[in-house]
Amino acid sequence: MTDPLFPFPQAATRRMLDWTGARIADGPDPKHGAQSFAALEPALGGSITEGGMDPAQAFRLFTDTIVPSTRPFGHPTSLSFVASAPSRAALSFDAALGAAGIFAGNWDGGAGAIHAENQALRWLADLAGWPAQAGGVFVAGGTLGNLSALHAAREWRSGQGPRPDRWAILCSSEAHSSIMAVARVMDVDVIVVPADDTGRMDGDTAAASLTPAVFAIVANAGATNCGAVDDIAGLADLAEAHALWLHLDGAYGGAALADPGQRTLFDGIERAHSLIVDPHKWLFAPYDSCALVYRDAGHGAAAHGQQAVYLDTVDKTHWNPSDYALHLTRRARGLPLWFSLAVHGTRAYAAAIARTRSVADQIAAGIDALPGLELILGPQLTVILFRPVGMDEAQMVAWAEAHRRSGALLCLPTRWRGEMVFRLCIVNPETDPDQVLSVLGTLGA
Ligand SMILES: Cc1ncc(COP(=O)(O)O)c(C=O)c1O
Repeated sequence: MTDPLFPFPQAATRRMLDWTGARIADGPDPKHGAQSFAALEPALGGSITEGGMDPAQAFRLFTDTIVPSTRPFGHPTSLSFVASAPSRAALSFDAALGAAGIFAGNWDGGAGAIHAENQALRWLADLAGWPAQAGGVFVAGGTLGNLSALHAAREWRSGQGPRPDRWAILCSSEAHSSIMAVARVMDVDVIVVPADDTGRMDGDTAAASLTPAVFAIVANAGATNCGAVDDIAGLADLAEAHALWLHLDGAYGGAALADPGQRTLFDGIERAHSLIVDPHKWLFAPYDSCALVYRDAGHGAAAHGQQAVYLDTVDKTHWNPSDYALHLTRRARGLPLWFSLAVHGTRAYAAAIARTRSVADQIAAGIDALPGLELILGPQLTVILFRPVGMDEAQMVAWAEAHRRSGALLCLPTRWRGEMVFRLCIVNPETDPDQVLSVLGTLGA
């Protein structure tokens, strides 16, 4: 019997699981946040040595140094960027999933996990009104989802007729930065259509910008900066008239499909070709996860998938997630969403998304009523833009930093039509509108 190379006492595993349980129950500390290199280096620099260290000591580095120097996005007072609000069910399950060590790139490796992930994808496809041949895969994030969908779009369009010298994507001026990044990677041009005063792109304006180089229209299903949902029906008409692919970037806002009260915003989605939704944004799942769904999964499979002799033994008769995006090895990152949905049910999801919207409505109404604040836009989905009257940019930045540091509120500025304004994006149904408004009441005071 040889000595184990990586001894690790059971007691150490148990201590880590105890911490995990407490963290899931308590949630993150809102006062946590980034530290400088100089602050982190004394604790973490040199932590990898030839001889290794005691597991309790290494784990203490995680609990006492690493975690406190991260942003507490899962806290209900985190209302900047697009935060995260994982359910306790999803977080608990994610810890178990990590321990299971499942390879979910192909059916041979992860059949049960893939079957369950596909249940969650089917739920999204049903919300979109898509047929049985819809399907896809969970990828790491919205950027990779957009890239994978748009690669499939160009492959599909290439088979439809003559190819221009250069291809182009058409999208709104409010499209997420990842669309520009994807265009750079794909070496295609971007035709930017001006959005209206609410940040929405409509079909007629898009039609006026269309050129023969376009292979895909990207519609915002929840623009990150302002929450706008584009005129999906008008864009679907345009796509159909010109044999173009319609891709919906719902990384943030696609979750609202699950709320019957907001469903009409997405009318026309049934005619789109692909959709992304990030469960780590507003579907109460942990990082990192993006659901990429094709209305006809065959278009995804025609564009992706890798061939190699060592992969010849892979069972091609079943669902192989690696065939639907730009990746091969993957964890079953859609399973925490599946577990949370299975435990709580889709009705609870609809209610949680509706409640988040109601929280946003209450905060917007409160901003409108506060004397020092002017509501500019929203809520659109759950994004609100507002300005504090009489504060200059430096004062706004200082206010945001003070409240971030104290843990009272993460509310950072953005720009709207060139002006620095404050932006809130609410994805947590447990955000307390009164608490948020009491902090906002200090603005301009
Ligand atoms: C609308 C939209 N699309 C795409 C992305 C990119 O997603 P990810 O950060 O998961 O790559 C984001 C991220 O915030 C987003 O809001």
